[in-house]
Amino acid sequence: MNMIETVCYSDSVSGTVHLPGDKSISHRYAMMAAIAEGTSVLKHFASSRDCHSTLGCLRSLGVELDESGDTVTILGRGLRGLKAPDGILDAGNSGTTMRLLSGILAGHPYTFSISGDPSLSNRPMGRIIRPLMQMGASIESREKDLPPLKIRGGSLKGIRYVLPVASAQVKSCVLLAGLYGNDPTAVKATVPTRDHTELALKEFGAVVRFDEDWIAVDPGPNLRARNLSIPGDLSGAAFFLAAAALAPNSDLYLPGVGLNGRRRELLNYLMEAGLDLSIENETVEAGEPRGDLKVRCSPELVEGRLPPIRRDRVAALIDEIPVLSVLGSQTAGGVEICDAGELRIKESDRISAIAENLRSMGVAVEEKKDGLNVPGGQRLRGADIHTRGDHRIAMAFAVAGLSAEGETRIHDAECADISFPGFWAALRAVIKE
Ligand code: S3P
Repeated sequence: MNMIETVCYSDSVSGTVHLPGDKSISHRYAMMAAIAEGTSVLKHFASSRDCHSTLGCLRSLGVELDESGDTVTILGRGLRGLKAPDGILDAGNSGTTMRLLSGILAGHPYTFSISGDPSLSNRPMGRIIRPLMQMGASIESREKDLPPLKIRGGSLKGIRYVLPVASAQVKSCVLLAGLYGNDPTAVKATVPTRDHTELALKEFGAVVRFDEDWIAVDPGPNLRARNLSIPGDLSGAAFFLAAAALAPNSDLYLPGVGLNGRRRELLNYLMEAGLDLSIENETVEAGEPRGDLKVRCSPELVEGRLPPIRRDRVAALIDEIPVLSVLGSQTAGGVEICDAGELRIKESDRISAIAENLRSMGVAVEEKKDGLNVPGGQRLRGADIHTRGDHRIAMAFAVAGLSAEGETRIHDAECADISFPGFWAALRAVIKE
């Protein structure tokens, strides 16, 4: 399907946006509910296609679950209770499904095959294969550690593992496998990444300990079912924050947004750049903070520059770099992104996709091996945007289209559903065309 969405200049992004449930948290709650004892009810579960890939895999593993609106009820099968599936598990476009679920599969005494769509089939899995094999699982992959994976699991041994890459998915995979070890498992994460797995493990009753950069999990306690509500997805909010900052008459309200300590680095970053943002009604549920965001057009941000994104900040802003690149081009001083080679192995090669699409909109941009240099003060011109089927590229360039002269046509626009079904309707509801 090639659905084309057309976006034109809007001088205002105003009203209210209700965000889908957080994608990262939804994956984790669903997986942990599946291996818990008892029935979990997960409210405001992500509508994203990726999280439905996780639910589909869980169903194939014998997990009974019911979806009613955005509430998902999951009958846990216990820590070692997943069944051998009849066929191949399909993780779709979702790296999180494949990488996190593999940690759980490695603890079950069966052979599992897990595959994905063409994008996921080109994403590196050596980063989870190596620690899982050290723990005693046997894993086969296509050449160069690419999916599909064939995992033969069983009883595992605990390991102490220094993460070679700043990745929450790898950290989470090893910690989940650690539930099945004969000793505690610990991972050392020198660069902090989102900690939803650690928080959720504790919430479901696992024993998690923190010692400087080390995070350890004890094997084996039975997880207990939980009733939880998932906050709105801050990474989905990012597109609207950027759009509202740029349009001169904006006033936008985003209620119930997840404000996890690691993820809210986005807000700290944007406020440092001059975003006119207020955060209200902050609460914490199941360790996950949430609050309501109010954002207005932000002349200070537009007249300044975005701080450079490098080193530890890359991991904190990893999913937001496409939209921050667009935003940077519309500030006076631009933005520079370094140390971000990971972006080349996301749902698409995002460094190349950002550079190509910014250029087609008339923006000069320097593409580097591990980043981008986006000079500021540039006028965007409407163009045809080639999303490469990557949801974050589609939504980032919708924001570009709102600031551009003329018409911007986003191709394969349906890929926004990967993380944000309803994105286009939500956008149309708050703009003036
Ligand atoms: C995610 C972690 C990040 C992020 C992805 C979701 C998660 O990936 O890019 O969209 O839910 O753990 P990496 O851990 O590979 O950086």
